Amino acid sequence: MTTPVLVLNGPNLGRLGIREPDVYGTATLADLAEACRAAGRGLGLDVAVRQTDDEAELIRWVHEAADTRTPVVLNPGAFTHYSYALRDALAMRTAPLIEVHLSNPAAREAFRHTSVVAGVADGTVAGFGLLSYQLALQAIAALAGSPPAAQAPAAAQAPAAAQAPAAPQAPERAQ
Ligand code: DQA
Repeated sequence: MTTPVLVLNGPNLGRLGIREPDVYGTATLADLAEACRAAGRGLGLDVAVRQTDDEAELIRWVHEAADTRTPVVLNPGAFTHYSYALRDALAMRTAPLIEVHLSNPAAREAFRHTSVVAGVADGTVAGFGLLSYQLALQAIAALAGSPPAAQAPAAAQAPAAAQAPAAPQAPERAQ
């Protein structure tokens, strides 16, 4: 069974591809969505990607995630830095939450150094472009206990007896 995950994106992220490509790269939101869905398939996650420029709509989606116990990967865009309403909505979460950023806000303008969201998230991944989202989905899979979809069935894995014995190494480690 796959775990549903919402990947939510805030304002101006629908402009990816043409928005300050030197900062955010040239991948579009559609590229980002496909990369997230592909990563999700490998992790046993059923990923739905949404974007809005509207704070109220984003908050409604956060409420929906809380009501349905759905894990969330969230790039709040500029709401990161000042939306107490979004933070309050996220504080009601009932499932894992990872904050993501394409750029590294800590290395940019001072107003980006504050995240009002970080304190209610399980963690933050920032600065790695699309990889930030893929790493966040890995974290969600680990936190939600979702088995990787691509994992070989147990019977096909190497039997324990074929693995290197741990016991002879133990004294070396103890020295
Ligand atoms: C961003 C960083 C924010 O500071 C900015 O307002 C964004 C994008 C990022 O993904 O790097 O809109 O969240």
